[in-house]
Amino acid sequence: MANAPQSDIDFFADSALENPYPLYRTLRDTAPAVYLTRYQVWFTGRYDSVRAALGNWQTYSSAHGIGLNPIINAAWANALICVDPPVHSELRKLFTERLSPRHLKPVEATIDRRANELAERLVERGRFDAVTHLAHDLPVNVIEEWERLRTDTSLIERAFHEIVRIESPIQNFSRVATKDVDVGDGVVIPRGARVIVSYGSANRDERHFDEPERFDVMRRRIDHLGFGLGNHACAGQGLARLEAHAVFRARAPRVRHFELTGEPIRALNNITRGFSHLPARIP
Ligand code: HEM
Repeated sequence: MANAPQSDIDFFADSALENPYPLYRTLRDTAPAVYLTRYQVWFTGRYDSVRAALGNWQTYSSAHGIGLNPIINAAWANALICVDPPVHSELRKLFTERLSPRHLKPVEATIDRRANELAERLVERGRFDAVTHLAHDLPVNVIEEWERLRTDTSLIERAFHEIVRIESPIQNFSRVATKDVDVGDGVVIPRGARVIVSYGSANRDERHFDEPERFDVMRRRIDHLGFGLGNHACAGQGLARLEAHAVFRARAPRVRHFELTGEPIRALNNITRGFSHLPARIP
């Protein structure tokens, strides 16, 4: 460990949770993996290293939990997300089946109806809090790009993925290394170490995405890691997509324009990224 790239940054300080992106960049620029001395965990945040970790459960195990503290890991001990194959493969089949397009089809009409009712109420109300009345993770960018989306609904699918890329509603989970792992540049993560696998950082990696800080619905690459990858890739992404599409579709014909009416307030959380208040109005 003596020669390992290290950092004493406070990864979970409020200021870091408020805007983690400069910090991620520093860590990415330091090495493919960096030891965070305050929390005694490793951090991996380059697109290629995160992708490699997510695709290799034999080396990066989920079986010791994927959270960042022992309480969460104990609480989730038997959850799908915290087991490795072969237990995982069997359990996952149940989820895949229940959340398959065939099973989601009948739910679609209900989601559409509720999205329409919600859109009508919003328009009547005029002023609203986008978190309470809309969605927890709708980025401010979408409000800015709204005009473009509402006039060309074929962009909805791209916008949905660009939201998940740029804000990564789940920022960080972790794995435990089952052996010494050479991650390149002479850096070796020791066996038994907990490693933060940062979707949020990978999705902003300038080694992979052009101008990653820019919200761009026309982005060429849509291979973001916001839903994870490999055997634990999000089992609910079909449902998430269905809901997001319904919300956009319901709003497009009714809402010309959104305006922020106050300072958005972040909900600070070690894992997720979202707002607690996003005051807005439909002028
Ligand atoms: C925009 C919304 C969502 C995002 C960004 C998201 C993100 C993720 C990510 C990054 C993982 C990977 C975990 C890992 O690498 O260990 C994951 C797993 C998972 N997600 Fe989602 N998720 C979303 C919505 C949903 C919804 C709506 C459901 C339920 C219907 C869901 C159910 C799951 C399940 C069950 C897993 C565990 C899969 C496994 O371990 O095999 N997710 N999600």
